Order: sequence, then structure tokens, then C-alpha cells
Amino acid sequence: MLTTRPRGTNDILPSEAGKWHYLEELLRLVSKQYGYQEIRTPVFEHTELFQRGVGETTDIVEKEMYTFTDRGERSLTLRPEGTAPTVRAFLEHKMYANPQPTKLYYIGPMFRYDRPQAGRYRQFHQYGVEVFGSNDPSVDAEVIAMAMDIYERLGLTGLTVELNSVGCPVCRPRHREELQKFLEKNKAKLCPTCQGRYEKNPMRILDCKNPGCQELTQGAPTTSETLCKDCSTHLEKVQSYLQALGVPYVLNPRLVRGLDYYTGTAFEITAQGIGAQSSIGGGGRYNGLISQCGGPDTPGIGFALGMERILLTLEQQGLILPTKEMIHVFIAALGKEAQTKAFTLAQSLRQKGVIVERDYLGRSLKAQLKAADRLEAVLTVILGDEEIKKNTGIVRKMANSEQVEIPLDDITAYLIEELQKEGVR
Ligand code: HAM
Repeated sequence: MLTTRPRGTNDILPSEAGKWHYLEELLRLVSKQYGYQEIRTPVFEHTELFQRGVGETTDIVEKEMYTFTDRGERSLTLRPEGTAPTVRAFLEHKMYANPQPTKLYYIGPMFRYDRPQAGRYRQFHQYGVEVFGSNDPSVDAEVIAMAMDIYERLGLTGLTVELNSVGCPVCRPRHREELQKFLEKNKAKLCPTCQGRYEKNPMRILDCKNPGCQELTQGAPTTSETLCKDCSTHLEKVQSYLQALGVPYVLNPRLVRGLDYYTGTAFEITAQGIGAQSSIGGGGRYNGLISQCGGPDTPGIGFALGMERILLTLEQQGLILPTKEMIHVFIAALGKEAQTKAFTLAQSLRQKGVIVERDYLGRSLKAQLKAADRLEAVLTVILGDEEIKKNTGIVRKMANSEQVEIPLDDITAYLIEELQKEGVR
């Protein structure tokens, strides 16, 4: 136990941290370019937020939440997703009183008690965006295009955008009725969860992974068949905007997302070749969520991308992110006095913004140079007793082993100039 991490969690090791940094930097850059500001919400919230926000009949709320009671007898839940917390913060801080729309993004860990497998974890990371305050279909197309822009900048190919409209409170009741009628005679054959959904939220049956339920819903009425005029016009406009941007998509009338707050536009982005967990991102419109949480009637739309799944897909497609974390200067020192000098020189170089490593183990010069090579240092400063006596240091260019002796008083300026010449600073 003491040396094993909890099932479904991951350590991001130093060797992988560079990939995460690269991805996060790209996400922050793209967010800025599209006009989004970051929001950081707590990793736990009142359980009720997700019960009411995500929906009682979703897999997430029914069986995947990490819920606990704190010492003050409050029921809290580790966030399984970022939309409900962002809506909560929008309301709590009265952001609706600002000029709209409000465009927010977040990056962080989410928690779901899911069955772990490749690409599916109990703690995973999402990047998500939410736009509050506009029901314009061009916003729907823009957020989809933004997600695709991110994947494209990473070099990913072979992705599919699946698009649907899940209807609104006007047309949803008709779909519900027709679906119940379609399933009525086979109701007893549905899995126990779907039997419960039959009354509470039959649309969720279309999303059941149980093969029996999947067979029973073959040919079932889809949401697209029962859309009201507003929803079908909205969907058409989203499509024409996507076409204008040249973003390919396929209509999937059976697409039902795993969260209850969606109204109208719903989409999922899938990647081939990463196994069963092919959804690398998804989102949609949730025009009723903000008012349902007690706020003013405000439309919303957003998406979230699974960061582990993005990295997994990059790996599958043989794409390597440029992540080298380089060392500028290694200081090799021999002898007590030289070591003291190395210690202070390292500190003063770092304070000037140079990335410096030094020996901590009193190793031989050969071993220290080997360490400098392993770290791919650009320059190595060699300080021995001889040099200290002369108040000099030897600077070695690691690429061609060229060495020059420089007075210690000038060495900082010299190193910085050399690094600039090498184009690394
Ligand atoms: P979601 O489809 O539940 O949507 O999750 C979005 C993405 O998170 C998925 O497409 C997947 O890439 C990743 N993901 C989900 N579960 C796991 C898991 N167990 N392990 C690894 N990755 C996972 C939402 O969460 C909505 N809040 C998206 C949204 C934002 N809709 C509107 N705004």
C-alpha cells in the first residue's frame, strides 16, 4: 500500500512533465487568442451542485462520484467535471452583472470512480472552456473549431467531430414520449439501470453501454426526428458556420452525451486507434443550467478535452512534443575551495536567469563532465585548485570540447554572452 498509488491514478514523472508543460502552455496560448480568461475553482464542491447540475440519472452522479462527509457533516464531492463548478462561480461572483458574454477556461484534475483502463482513469485532467451569455449558433461553431484548432496545432490527424442536437424543453417531451412508446414492450428486458431511466430520463437509455440495451434501442426514435423549429434551425446554422470554417463533421442523431444539462447542440470528438476510450473531447450547449442553479436565464456552451487522452493519441500517432528541458551551464569543481566557488557562482548565475546545475557528490572531474554531458549542458565551467589560485575558470563548449580560460571576475558576463551566441538565452 505504501508504495502503490490508488487504482486509476497516475504519477506524472519528471520524464513526462515536459509534455504536460508543453500542452498546458499551448492551451493557455490558444485560450488567450480566442479571448478566454482562466478560472480556478476548488477540487471539491457541495455534492448537491453535481446532483442538480450534472443530473441524478447520469452515470457520473449514479455511480462515479467521490463523495465524502467532512468533519462538519457536510456532503462534499471531488469534482467529476468542470462545467457545474464554473456555473456556480459565475453565479456566486455575480459575473452575470458584467457585460456579456463571459468566456472562461480551466485546466485541472477531475475525479470519477470509473473502471480504469487505457485512457480511462479515476483522476484525470481536463482542459475546458465555457461561454455564458450568447445563444448565437456561430458561438457553437466557434467552440468546436477551437477544439479542432488545438488538436491540429498538436499535429493530431484522423479525428472526427460528431454533431447532434439533443433538443430543448419544448421538443424533449415529445422525444421522451416517442422513445417510451418504442421501448414499452421491451421495458422488462432493459438493464436494471435503464429500467429506472425509462421513467426518469429515457433519453439516457440511448447512451447505455450494455449490449442488450444497445440492441433494444436499434431503430429507436432519435432526438433529431423530434426537434422543434428553433432547435432544427439552430442546428442548421451551426452546420453552415462549421462549413464556412471548413471544419468537417458528421451528424450523429444518436449522440447523447453523458451529462443531463445539455440542450440543443451536443458534440463529441473522437480519435481512432486509442481503443475503447476514443472520445478525446466533448461538449455542447446548456441553456437551462444557469437558471436551474438559481441564476438569471443565461445561455451557455462549452467543451472539455481529456488531457491524458490527447497525450495518448499523440503517442499512438507517433508525434513527439518538443519538450527538452535544457541545462545552460554545468559547474564542475575539484577541491574544497573550488567547490565553495562553484556554490556561489551557481547561485549568482541562476539569479541572472541562467539554468545551472553543479556537482553535489564530490565526484571526479571525469564523472562530473559525464554528468554535464548527460544533462546536455551547453557550457561547463571547470574549477580546479590551479584555476582558483589564478582566480580563473575554464569554460568548455560541450558541443566541440573547445576550452578557454576566463578570469572569474568576468566569467558571468562571458557565460551569458556565449549562451546568447548559442541562441539559448
Ligand atoms: P465529458 O464528455 O464527460 O464532458 O468529458 C470530457 C472529456 O474528458 C472526455 O471527452 C474525455 O476525453 C475526458 N474524460 C472523461 N472521463 C475520463 C476518464 N475517466 N479518464 C480520462 N479522461 C476522461 C464533460 O466533462 C463536460 N463538462 C464537458 C463540457 C464543458 N460540456 C460543456 N462544457
